[in-house]
Amino acid sequence: MKSFYITTAIDYANGKPHLGHAYEKVLTDVVARFRRLMGDDVYFLTGIDEHGQKVQQSAQARGIEPIELCDEAAVAFKGLCASLDVSNDDFIRTTEDRHKNVVRSILQKLFDQGDIYKAEYQGYYSKRAEQFLQDKDRDENGEWPALFGEVEEITESNYFFKLSQHQDWLIDHTKSNESFIYPLFRAKQVLEFLKEPINDLCISRPKERLEWGIPLPFDEDYVTYVWFDALVNYVSAVGYGTDSFEDHWPADFHVIGKDILVPPHAVYWPIMLKAADIALPKSLLVHGWWLKSGEKMSKSTGTVVDPLDLIGQFGSDAFRYFVTREMNVGHDSEFSQERYMARYNSDLANDLGNLLSRVLAMLGRGFDGVIPAPQVEEDLETELWNLWGETQPKVVALYEEFQFHTGLERTFAFISAINRYAEQRAPWKLAKSEDPEDKKRLDTSLFVMAESLRLAVGLLAPVLPQTSQKVYDLLGYEADSDWTQRLQRSEAIVGKKTGEKTILFPKPQNDA
Ligand code: MSP
Repeated sequence: MKSFYITTAIDYANGKPHLGHAYEKVLTDVVARFRRLMGDDVYFLTGIDEHGQKVQQSAQARGIEPIELCDEAAVAFKGLCASLDVSNDDFIRTTEDRHKNVVRSILQKLFDQGDIYKAEYQGYYSKRAEQFLQDKDRDENGEWPALFGEVEEITESNYFFKLSQHQDWLIDHTKSNESFIYPLFRAKQVLEFLKEPINDLCISRPKERLEWGIPLPFDEDYVTYVWFDALVNYVSAVGYGTDSFEDHWPADFHVIGKDILVPPHAVYWPIMLKAADIALPKSLLVHGWWLKSGEKMSKSTGTVVDPLDLIGQFGSDAFRYFVTREMNVGHDSEFSQERYMARYNSDLANDLGNLLSRVLAMLGRGFDGVIPAPQVEEDLETELWNLWGETQPKVVALYEEFQFHTGLERTFAFISAINRYAEQRAPWKLAKSEDPEDKKRLDTSLFVMAESLRLAVGLLAPVLPQTSQKVYDLLGYEADSDWTQRLQRSEAIVGKKTGEKTILFPKPQNDA
């Protein structure tokens, strides 16, 4: 069976991981965990992008070898994945032989086919963007925008990959495959870009200017342009050229930020694959940016938020919850510490955490910690179960559409309804009554609270995997291996001994 193959972009090795990188990994992980729960055999790849001028320069500035810098980055980014509780199956580094060999074999194939040619190029070059610029890249005053840094005019011989001959095919492919780019409005941006004729792509850098790259197999005086190198990671990691390649390829989703859709992922990559006679990925899932004070969070603007600080203080599940709950996939979202604390305190600590503490405390007090069987069903119970009946399929459908933020909103609306049920049923009052009917109501109410909590954390599993498991353990529930079964009402927890009162999301010492 072919796996469900999902990838993140590979992060540049010359920077520290920040919230934007962490978000992309969490988003991909949420999709991966969701698909696994839905029964898919998921293969999840992430990694780092190690070649190019910026790595060479950063290493030079520190007086170390580029590979040393990359080794440090590999430790940092692998550490980030572990801290985020991300379930990746592989982590690719573009300096690995398995990758370099595939880049070289694809280049050789394209060269042999006549898809790569050498030509003299005279033009403007941006070191910062590591690309040649065209007049259309100038701003309205005819200047080069600041993002390109220092721009110099240069003449040099280079190798070019024939992109332009595939333009019509690519337009047609993008138009006729609505699921190729998600969300759909991003496809419009691609088609807009493709209205202008595209140039062939310069895929080499002369060694005298850049050494830190993969040498071209047909001319060792040049190294490979870093985007051509990096994109290939998606196929090199899953054994392009070997028998097992098709166990994973084509990728189901490449998860990327909106800044690297056009042209790398929506233009270069499909054309590279088509020319090399490799199937295209099924979809690009394009997310927006985390902003700080309205600007893209990035190293160069100095506005980065360190995900590791937040994880250290509040745990990985809280971080995963915040980014998934706040970001409408495809759009931008502003980060603020206040919003982070508001979500943490109100949704996680109060609504969810207090509900669990309450259930465990009440069971501990009157029931020796054993979950009673339900005895009656009255309007309050029926209402709650009806709400579950609507919530469960709706949330799964929203997750299928990457609407995780609304899926979580709905799940937390259900959790609030459980809290309301508890207030209205007031088991603490029922416990004082002498009426045998109230004893039945009391048993029922504790069962209903425990069971509805069990159901709710089932829906949270892709986003809050640790919390979900912790609640199952505390309720003595052995999770059914079939997730959709776990989401069905049952009496499996009746008679189970519950755990000690636990605080899932402790209030921070000071809300800083
Ligand atoms: N190395 C290239 C990708 C090569 S993929 C074959 C690159 N690296 S990056 O480190 O700059 O970005 C990695 C991913 O993080 C990209 O998908 C990018 O969009 C994402 N983010 C970087 N900053 C971001 C935010 N502020 N917000 C959300 N994601 C952003 O591009």
